[in-house]
Amino acid sequence: MTDRPIFLDNNSTTFPAPEGVEAVLPLFGEIYGNPSSTHSFGQKVRHEIELARENVAKLLNCKTSEVVFNSGATEGNNTAVYAALDGMPERKHIITTRVEHASVLEVIRYLAEAGYRITELSVDRLGHIDLDELKNEISGDTALVSLMWANNETGVISPINAAGDIAKQFGALVHVDAVQAAGKLKIDLKEELAIDYLTISGHKFHGLKGAGALFVRESAPFLPLIRGGHHEDGRRAGTENAMGIVAMGAAAALVNRNLDKHIEHMKKMRDRLQGGLLAKCEDVIINGDQMDRLPNTLNAGFKYIDGEALLMMLDAADIAVSAGSACKSGSMEPSHVLLAMNVPLSAIHGSVRFCVSRYTEEGEVDAAIDKIAGIVKRLREMSPFGHTETRQDALSAEALEKHKAYFAKV
Ligand SMILES: Cc1ncc(COP(=O)(O)O)c(C=O)c1O
Repeated sequence: MTDRPIFLDNNSTTFPAPEGVEAVLPLFGEIYGNPSSTHSFGQKVRHEIELARENVAKLLNCKTSEVVFNSGATEGNNTAVYAALDGMPERKHIITTRVEHASVLEVIRYLAEAGYRITELSVDRLGHIDLDELKNEISGDTALVSLMWANNETGVISPINAAGDIAKQFGALVHVDAVQAAGKLKIDLKEELAIDYLTISGHKFHGLKGAGALFVRESAPFLPLIRGGHHEDGRRAGTENAMGIVAMGAAAALVNRNLDKHIEHMKKMRDRLQGGLLAKCEDVIINGDQMDRLPNTLNAGFKYIDGEALLMMLDAADIAVSAGSACKSGSMEPSHVLLAMNVPLSAIHGSVRFCVSRYTEEGEVDAAIDKIAGIVKRLREMSPFGHTETRQDALSAEALEKHKAYFAKV
């Protein structure tokens, strides 16, 4: 048992590794120069940044010259999409998936207004794309195939290699959002040769918020999104976030040394949580493929209750999770990922994402199981509607209509 709050929301952000925080401390003191300055003050910071670049390059197994530091994955994803399209001016088609993060999906949907034809690949009930659909949709007009390595809501892992090979047969560029893969799966860009651009974000693997890295393969076209300086070899202007970069470098070094151990621990904690919840709660479904899944993620649908209510009661009980639907202007907005997977609305509304980390302890998992089971039972007893799916379906009928109307158009 544990008395401290329990953080089971590690796909949203993570505990900063103490080793990274320690590595950053001198930058709040004597090491404070501008890394672009040629004097010794600046060069000390430059040295720290270049050490971080080596660790990040090792994390990705790529060249240091292929690592561009930035503010995080939202910037990285935007940059990669625009760079690819600029490099293929004669092509006007983009392929992505319905389950991407908003930082990919919204920029690509915006490009539809600029005249691009967009294909959003569907996913099956387990959250997988269909490679045959990709083969049918891709053509010599496809500039970019953008897909995530692992989904942030369900943890489902995409067939990056196979999809990349198909894209290459048509000469398309490939972007991979690897935000949830870093620190949880092995990434090897000397093996995954089809990938031209790949994004990661420090705070998702125990670094700090506001620092990320974009891998740009030496052979890939590039266009800076942010101009106004020669930083990052002219690829991303602006004085570097030295603290964030150094913390990300330290976090990468820890992953480089211990990934297998971290994976084993996360998997053990996640499986313990999953087993305990299934044993103690009735009417629970697991959303997404349980095999091809990140080692830390469990997306569980508790039938007949609202995930938001569960989230709030868990928060009051000092357990942090995130819900599969969010309350927006009075109606329930279901997760676009679970909708795309055709999860019944009644299950989406009761869906909660639990994500452990390498720091999660057995005692925390056991305490969480007991508290969650108790709250689920109480919520079901409190519901004036009892065990009925129709109420929750009605709650988001409007949102479902919007979703259907959107896909009728693309
Ligand atoms: C899959 C995925 N891509 C991109 C992002 C955006 O990352 P950042 O917070 O670094 O902008 C997130 C963050 O939740 C994510 O989960």
